Amino acid sequence: MSKRIRVFATCDIGDALNILRNKGYDVEVYPRPEAPPKSLIVEKVKSGVDGLITTLRDPIDAEVFAAGAGTLKVVAQFAVGFDNISRAAANKYKVPFTNTADVLTEATAEFAFFMMGALARKLWPAEHLTRENRWGIKKCAGFDMNILSFDPAYENRDYIKAIQEMMDLSFQRGISREKTSIRYTTLHEALSGADFISLHVPLLREGESTTPTYHLINETTLRTMKPTAMIINTSRGPVIDEAALARALRENRIAGAALDVYEQEPLPADSPLRDPAIADRCRLLPHFASAARITRLSPDPNKGMAGRCVQGLLDVLEGNYGGDVTKMAYVVNKEAFKK
Ligand code: GLV
Repeated sequence: MSKRIRVFATCDIGDALNILRNKGYDVEVYPRPEAPPKSLIVEKVKSGVDGLITTLRDPIDAEVFAAGAGTLKVVAQFAVGFDNISRAAANKYKVPFTNTADVLTEATAEFAFFMMGALARKLWPAEHLTRENRWGIKKCAGFDMNILSFDPAYENRDYIKAIQEMMDLSFQRGISREKTSIRYTTLHEALSGADFISLHVPLLREGESTTPTYHLINETTLRTMKPTAMIINTSRGPVIDEAALARALRENRIAGAALDVYEQEPLPADSPLRDPAIADRCRLLPHFASAARITRLSPDPNKGMAGRCVQGLLDVLEGNYGGDVTKMAYVVNKEAFKK
């Protein structure tokens, strides 16, 4: 009898795991809500699991890949971001890793807008007024906005053109009251001109890219923003220097911040972002921008992160695409498998 394929999942990603169980895989799931200790991941990998399902809380580094040398065949990350996985180590041990790009983009973008709205319409202080029987609220900003885009790596001019056409039509047909525009600009102009700054970048540290994003928002860049500016971060915490942000909020150099991600997660008890003096203008959320039910849990790889994660794992373990890793849609580190 052939040995059952073994998979260890560091978190429960729901019904999509039944796809593996129904195939006869031996699926072990870490049962607690927090991430398992790294020593447990190493132990499981050493014990010979074929596939690992991970989240961004798990450090999948050289030690993990070394522990799985010769046995670990795939790491399937339940996230679009993979800054917790050492690409160099994965490549050294020739282990493909997959991610769940695209299926969470809508939910995350939507959530960035909710955060922007919560800030712009001052929902937190407004609810306090209601709770404290001090009703009486001023209206803030709306959503017909001019858009300044900055992307050092890639400019999609066709997309920008299509959005401009939609904006023009919306104005012509009387749906929008004001004529609005969208265009690419420089980082400096985007930061200094925007009322709302929403960050959508991977975490790239010095040496990982010619355009690193670590502490992109820092003391200097914060000082270029308008005192009325509000910043929204649904990308990765270390893109913002949190100490500098807390200072800017305390000194009213910018007007607000809504954060879903942090330099350290969970957010430490002594974080300067928790300062009660800035609580009215600093929204703190628990890294759940993509946490819409279908987005996270659908077993359908075209809809859900869980489905895409499992499909990525299966592609490798079942040798789909004729076993050619470079053709597998969800594998990230294809460079390690180019002939
Ligand atoms: C969430 O942060 C993700 O990378 O999927």
